[in-house]
Formats: sequence, structure tokens, C-alpha cells
Amino acid sequence: MKVIVDGQEIEVPSGTSALDAVFASGRDVPYFCANSYLSPVGACRMCLVEAGSPRKGPDGNLIMEGDQPKIFWFPKPMASCTLAATDGMVIKTQSDTVQKAQAGMMEFTLLNHPLDCPTCDKGGACELQDRAYEYGYGVSRFGFDRRHADKHYPLSEFIILDQERCIHCKRCVRYFEEVPGQEVLDFIERGGHTFIDTAEGGLPTGFQGNIADICPVGALLDNVARFRGRNWEYDHTPTTCTLCPVGCAITVDARNGRIERIVSGENRDVNEVWICDAGRFGHPVATDDRLTMPLVRRNGTLVEATWDEAIAAITAGMASLNPGDLALYTSGDATMEEGLALEVFAETIAAPSVDYFPRYPVSVELPLPTLTEVATADGVIVVGADLGEEAPVLELRVLEMLRGGILPPTYEHGTAIADLRLVERAARDRAKLAVYHPTATRLATHAGITSNEPSLEVLEGLLSGRGSSAIQAGAALLKKASKPVLIVGSDVLNQGANVLHPILTQLALTYGAKILPIPAAPNSRGLGHLDLVPRAGGLPYSRLASARAAFISRLDPKIRPSGFTVVHDTHFTETAKLADVVLPAVSNYEKRGTTVNLEGRLLPLTQAAIDSGEGADLVRALGAVAEGLGVKSKVRGLRTAQKMLTERFGVDFAALPQTGTIVPLGKRRTAPTGLTVKPQLWKPGMQRGNPIPLPMATATAPRNIQTVGGDD
Ligand code: SF4
Ligand code: SF4
Ligand code: SF4
Ligand code: FES
Repeated sequence: MKVIVDGQEIEVPSGTSALDAVFASGRDVPYFCANSYLSPVGACRMCLVEAGSPRKGPDGNLIMEGDQPKIFWFPKPMASCTLAATDGMVIKTQSDTVQKAQAGMMEFTLLNHPLDCPTCDKGGACELQDRAYEYGYGVSRFGFDRRHADKHYPLSEFIILDQERCIHCKRCVRYFEEVPGQEVLDFIERGGHTFIDTAEGGLPTGFQGNIADICPVGALLDNVARFRGRNWEYDHTPTTCTLCPVGCAITVDARNGRIERIVSGENRDVNEVWICDAGRFGHPVATDDRLTMPLVRRNGTLVEATWDEAIAAITAGMASLNPGDLALYTSGDATMEEGLALEVFAETIAAPSVDYFPRYPVSVELPLPTLTEVATADGVIVVGADLGEEAPVLELRVLEMLRGGILPPTYEHGTAIADLRLVERAARDRAKLAVYHPTATRLATHAGITSNEPSLEVLEGLLSGRGSSAIQAGAALLKKASKPVLIVGSDVLNQGANVLHPILTQLALTYGAKILPIPAAPNSRGLGHLDLVPRAGGLPYSRLASARAAFISRLDPKIRPSGFTVVHDTHFTETAKLADVVLPAVSNYEKRGTTVNLEGRLLPLTQAAIDSGEGADLVRALGAVAEGLGVKSKVRGLRTAQKMLTERFGVDFAALPQTGTIVPLGKRRTAPTGLTVKPQLWKPGMQRGNPIPLPMATATAPRNIQTVGGDD
């Protein structure tokens, strides 16, 4: 389809909005209410353009003017975000009429705006500031008092509304309706008195923080980050969230060595542009109460020491033992590079006791869906998974599926800004979703089929087609769907591999379903491809108490072996308090490396500008242990680890795109399962200063740990 923008003819696919056609031509038009992942509604009237189209006469031929088709112009400037481009449409973005209309709209928008940019958190990153500079008159013709309203109106504990700054673009209202499917925010009153507000009780926890990202002005602000820095003062680091196995794109904003804010990044294949509240507000754990120096036990007390002193203490502690007596354990949030360093170090010292926790509980090959395939499936069954706790943004992708799984197209300028197929209050087809969980889950409120029957019974019933009416309905849904997806969570994965593997394999074969198990920790899935299980005679993590000596990284079993113990952690955990030597660790916000998310996507971690004192990642900490033992490991740093991973898996670990890539990593090496956890993510009330329970994160995480299956 041809469209002419300011005299330039371009080709765009049919269904393109006039706004996207303008951007596709390389020209600009101001906009506020349009957003790539929300329905276009034409609320702000900022994107005005002149537009006209050729028409056909009664004879079916184009009406001509000379040798050119006659253009029939709309009588007034049009909002380009809600206008569909048509074949032959002519769009003007630079005419006097357009410039006057845009400047007039800007004048209206600023009519009651407080212009408190010097103290506004959005200053420097404000769409209104930028657009006023580019498209405004430059002077105000209004001398009267502006409207005044509440400037610190809490919509929740985490989101503060400045009512004066709101430009009524309706992005926040549409977001709640269209993305998490919660009708909790709306406009109240009319005209100049209009304001947005919630029902009593405030915004629901889960995904509320996203409205701070999409508000084009400083009306909705992240209360954790409010007044903590100007936008130009932050070091912005695009990286990957590793608080759960979804692996959302995030940007870490740090100032003076602290994380002050986390905002979402765009990864169309994973999180689109949304992140959960745990990923956004749960970051204080990374910078509060950190261990910044090594500690060594002297006269029964742990005291601060240098790394050299810690290495000397390791040498002394291991003097009467063989290096191979040292059991090596790490957590499932370690990077691939760290996991490889542990594997190679275990080989170097011939240590049979090596493990990671929690392990990925599935070792059979199952047809795995991507997150995009979840969003575009025609039937999703969730068994034994509380997505809000285990993989929150996966819940948003399932809800996207209920809305029809419309993925915005991409243009050279990026994701479509106004996708006309997205509509307000889109119908949700609840019949396409079945949720089975022993307790009530948020996702179940959107499902047409629900039941609280035991997960194993549900899986068996889905396979046989027999059981309660809810199970039979789920089996019928699986049968009817041409692209079914079965998501299984901790309540299923805790059943143990012997039970799990045959039934999941049969379900995949019987219904042609893709199966998505949710790993209990961010990189459990990736670490399963490394050789991180006990060798012959070695002790698994569950039996670490029997080890003669142990090195425990980022795990808090709250017990120690009877012998010498080295703990490597970011915080002074209960286990660290029992250790002989404590080595300070860095969090995943401070690491470079690679993680593998639940769909098997390799995602890079980038180091944010956070002051981690003397903290070191597992690769460097193992280097210190090697020095203490007087041995040399082949993995001495990130570069060697990435080189070895590249050789082993045939993908360049040093050059992964920020959006990640799915490549087959081959057969998983790790044996099926030893221990599994029920992950528990951040909850409201756990704020700065209070340790936040995250899977595998810190000492104080209250976790419901279940021991299942045999130890390998
Ligand atoms: Fe200034 Fe933008 Fe804040 Fe308004 S929202 S006060 S224009 S920075
Ligand atoms: Fe738009 Fe922000 Fe106002 Fe919501 S609060 S309507 S996102 S300007
Ligand atoms: Fe982080 Fe998971 Fe939330 Fe994404 S869904 S922001 S990866 S905790
Ligand atoms: Fe707001 Fe078009 S009317 S962007």
C-alpha cells in the first residue's frame, strides 16, 4: 500500500495507522496518548496531521485531477493515531494548518500544567517537556491562575499521583484494563476538573509499577525512586531481571553506587515492555545491608579481613584436608559463566561433591513453547503453578492470549506506535484458559475452567479424559486447540521426575501440546546443561551437613558441615554467621554474564554502576579459593569462561544481543531432580531496609522448601 507523506511516497502494510506511516517515512509527529502496546484512543489530540485520500467515481475508476488522482481532504486536521492509512493517502505534517493545530493543542495541554520541571522527577525524560520545546508556541498567552490539585496523591504505597501534572492521556487507565485485566483506575469528574483515581484500597499489587513507565509526564511516580535523583544523574544500565526465570528486559538506574530505580526495557519476545512489581520495587535488597568485605573467624568471632587474609584462612582451614574434600554448592541464580567455573574447579580439585540448588526438575526433551507462542496459543492449561509467585510476566502473556494474542508489527522505527487492531475493552475469551491450583490464584479469576484438585490428579485426568467436570473440560480444551500450551509449576514439579516425565511426555504426544515447566530459580534451566551434579561418592546439596568441608555460594541452608566452611554471599546470612570464612559476593545487577530463561533463551547480564565494595562474583571467588588451595583452575575470569562456553555450545556467549537468543544447548547433563522449592516473590510491605524474600536471594527469605525424590 502506497502512502505519500510530505511529498514522499512510501510503502506500508495495510492496517498501518497514519501515525506509523509518518514515522515510517522518517518524519515526526508529536503524540502523548499513543503507546505501542495499548489501544489507540485519540485522547490527547496532539498527533494532528492533514490527510486526504483519492476516491473512486461511480464507474469504479479513480476520480482524476489532470493526470493525478484528485485528493479529497478531511475538512479538519485529523488525529493520526486513530486514522487508518489507506492506499494513495496523502499526509501533511508540516503545513501551516498542522503547525498551528499542534501548537494550539500544546497550548491547551499546558493551560493548567504546573510546569514545576525543576523539582519534577520526570524532568529530563519528560515527553511533555520535549514536545513543548519542539512543537509549542514558546510563549504562554494565559495570565490567569492555573488549576490547583493534590500533588502528592497516593494511588498505592508505591505509586504517587501528582494530579496537576496529569494530561489525561488515559494510558494508565487503558493499561490496567488491557494488560493485567484489572479495571481499577478511571477518570472522575469532567472538563478541567477531571482527575484519575482508584477504587478504595488503591492499586492492586502485581503489575502496578508499569504505569510509572508509561505515563508521558511526571504525574505517576515510583514512590521507591521519587526524589532520589534527576534523570541525567543516573547511570542507565540495560540488563536482564533475574528475580524469576522469565528474564525480563530492565534498565537499572544507579546513582552514587546505589540502585535507585528499575524501569522496564523492551524485549518483544519476552516481556514486551512490562515488568512485575517484584522486579521493579524489589531491588533494595541488592544495595541494603550488603557484605562488602571478607570476614574470617578469629577466636570464635567473624572479623573483617582483606582478601589475602581470607585466602590465608582458607589455606589454614584446608591444611589437614585434601582439596577434593571441599564440597561445592551454588544457587540457581548463578550465571552460566559462574556455573562453568564451578564445574571446571570441581574437576581441577577432583571434588566429587558439587551441586546447584534448586535443580531444573525436568530432564526429558519436551516441546517447549516460546513466550510468544504462549501469547498466541489457542488454549492454555496451567497446572500447579501460581504465576504471580513463580513467573509473573508469564501471567501477562497468558492474558494477552485471552485478548487474541495480537502482537504489534515492527517497522524500521521499531514497534508500531498505534496498532489499530488493539481495541479498548477487548473481549477476553475465558474459555481458552484452564487453571488448576490447590489454592486460589490471580490468574484463575480470568479462567473459564478452574479447579483446586491435586495437581497430579489433574494431569492424569487430562491425559485420560476422565475425572471431574473441570478436568474433562480441560481435556476437551486440549483436544480442540490446534496450538495448546501446558504450563506446569512448582506444585507439579515437586512430584519428582519418575512420576513427572512419563505423564508430561504423554500429554505432549497425545495433544500435540507444548509444555512449559517453570524452573524454581532464574537460571536453574541453564545450569542443568552443565555438569553440576555430584560425581561418584559425592554429596548432593541436601546432604551438605555430611561434607568434611564446604564452599557454599549464595545459598542459605542455615546449617554448616562439621568441617571447614566458606560462604560466598551478598548478605550476612544465617549460614554466613556459621562460616569460618565469608567472601563478599555481588548481586546479579552487578554481574556480567549469561542467564537462561524458562523458554531456553540466553540473555545477557550487564554490570550496573553499583558500589559492591570488595564483592566478587563466583568466578573470582573460586579463583581465591583455588589460590588458598594452591591450585590453578582453567577458568580464571569471565573471558575464559565465555570462550569455553562458546566452544561447548556453539554460540558466542560474549556477543549475545540484549534481547537474547534461543539456541539448542543440547542434552541436559544434570540428573532430574534432587530438591525443589516453591518460589516466593516480593510482597508489599517488604521495603527498603527489610530483607526481601526472593527465590534463592538472601538469608532471610522464608521459603517453603520441599524435599522430593531421591538424591542423585
Ligand atoms: Fe515539567 Fe514534564 Fe514534570 Fe510537567 S511533567 S512539570 S513538563 S517535567
Ligand atoms: Fe496519562 Fe499519566 Fe494522566 Fe494517566 S496519570 S492519564 S498516564 S498523564
Ligand atoms: Fe523480574 Fe520475573 Fe518480574 Fe520479569 S517477571 S520483572 S524477570 S521478577
Ligand atoms: Fe493522542 Fe493521537 S490523539 S496520540
